[in-house]
Amino acid sequence: MKAIVSASVLASSLVLTLSPVAQVSAQQAPIVIKFSHVVTSDTPKGRAAELFKELAEQRSNGRVRIEVYPNSTLFKDKEELEALQLGSVQMLAPSFSKFGPMGINQFEAFDLPYLFESYDDLHKVTRGPVGAAMLRLLRDHGIAGLAFWDNGFKDFTDNKPLRTPADFRGQKIRIQSSKVLDAQMRALGAIPQVMAFSEVYQALQTGVVDGFENTPSNIYTQKVHEVQKYMTLSDHGYIGYVVIANAKFWDSLPSDLRGILEQSIAEASDFADAIAKKENDDAIAAIRKKGRTEIIELTADEKRSLKQALLPVHHQLEGRVGRDLLQSIYAATGRSAAGSLAPSAAVR
Ligand code: SIN
Repeated sequence: MKAIVSASVLASSLVLTLSPVAQVSAQQAPIVIKFSHVVTSDTPKGRAAELFKELAEQRSNGRVRIEVYPNSTLFKDKEELEALQLGSVQMLAPSFSKFGPMGINQFEAFDLPYLFESYDDLHKVTRGPVGAAMLRLLRDHGIAGLAFWDNGFKDFTDNKPLRTPADFRGQKIRIQSSKVLDAQMRALGAIPQVMAFSEVYQALQTGVVDGFENTPSNIYTQKVHEVQKYMTLSDHGYIGYVVIANAKFWDSLPSDLRGILEQSIAEASDFADAIAKKENDDAIAAIRKKGRTEIIELTADEKRSLKQALLPVHHQLEGRVGRDLLQSIYAATGRSAAGSLAPSAAVR
C-alpha cells in the first residue's frame, strides 16, 4: 500500500492497537474499533455510525467497543485514510471522492454530474453486482469494503446567485479531492479548490473560497448557511459513502464476531438509506427557516443549461474512472450513455 503519511497520523499510529485476539486473551478487554468520520453526528452518516455502535456493542455482549469520532475530531479526510492503512483507526465511511488520491479512481465515477436521476437509480448500482464488484476492488489496497451508505444529491452555495454556467465563471469553489469534481468545476468556468471538509466553514467565512457544493444535510450541519447568501437547488451530483475497515484487522476478528458486526452494518446501512432523503429535505427546510440564505429554485431552462455544460465531463473522464465500469453503471441504471438534456426529475 502506498501512502504519504502525515506527521499527526504517524504520531497516533505509535499508540498501536493490540490485535483483537491478544486483547481478549491478555486483558479480557473488549476489542476496540475506532470509527472516524468527518461529518456531525446528526447527519445520515453520523446517525448510522451511532446505530452501528449501539447494535454491535449490544449484540456482542460487550466483546467489542466501537468508539465513534465524528466531525473530524480524530482525523481530517485525507489523514483518516492514511490512519486506516496504518491501523490507527479500524473503520471509516469516506465519501466516494476520497478514494482517488489513493489511486482507486473507480470510485470517482460516482462524482460524475447527473449520473443518477434518483435514489432508485443509485440503489441499482450500490445494491447490485456493480456495487459488490466495486467493494471487492478495495481488497488490493488492504481495505475491506463492507457497505454503501446513502447521503444525497448536491446543491451549490455561494455569495452570488448561481443559476447558469455564466454565473460560475471565476468563482473559487471548494471541492473534495476528486479529478472528476475538478473537471466538473472547470466545465462551468469555476476555479476548483481542494480542501478538507473541516476547513470549509472558515474558508467561506474569510473568503478564501467563494462557494461550496454539498448535500443539504452537510451544508446545514456545517453551518454553511451562516456564511453563504445563496443556495442553488441543482441536484447536479451525488455524495454517498463506502463503509470500510482495515482488511488485516477485519480478517483477524473471530468469525462469529465478524458476523455480528456484518449484520449490524447491514442494519445501519438500511437505516442510513431510509433516513437520508428526509434528513436532506429537512435540512433545506431548516436553512430556509434560518432566513440567512436565499434558496434558489432553478427553472427548466436553467437546469438544462447546467446539464448541457456538465454532461461532457462523463466522456472527458471515462478513461480515469474506467470505461467498462461506467458502461456497467449506465446499464444498471437503464441508460445507454451519459444522459439526456431533459431536466432531471426532482430528487426531492
Ligand atoms: C462527507 O460527507 O463525508 C464529507 C463530504 C465532503 O468532504 O465534502
